[in-house]
Amino acid sequence: MGRFIWSDIYSVGIPAMDEQHQRLFAMLNDLHLHGVEASQTELARTVLDQLFDYIAEHFAAEEALMAEMAYPALEEHKTTHRQFVRQVLKMRKQERQGNLNFDVLQEFLMDWLVLHIKGRDRDGYGAALVSERADTAPSLLERR
Ligand SMILES: [Fe+2]
Repeated sequence: MGRFIWSDIYSVGIPAMDEQHQRLFAMLNDLHLHGVEASQTELARTVLDQLFDYIAEHFAAEEALMAEMAYPALEEHKTTHRQFVRQVLKMRKQERQGNLNFDVLQEFLMDWLVLHIKGRDRDGYGAALVSERADTAPSLLERR
């Protein structure tokens, strides 16, 4: 699997959110870069722990933004965040029990983040925000 490289196709059009997504990408790249030399168990634990802490912060920021813009699909979007958190928790548990498949972990994280960022984030709240008029959400558009 190739390295996970950020490009504009992932941009939601809001710099603060793009930066947070880039940080998530960087965490996943650690799985690739160090996956060969480090113990996979140790690495999986580190990445899952980091990710678990950071997604709580990131999802909260995203949900606050969507609430601020009165995004209609907020609840649905929050549900997908919660499902992801549950999945990460499940994999953390598997890792602690010695049952985690490293390739499955890598693929799950990559697939989920790419689909989520390009779909629900970029084409969801990102597109909705871009189509807003400056007079309806001036403070949000100023951040762009
Ligand atoms: Fe999201």
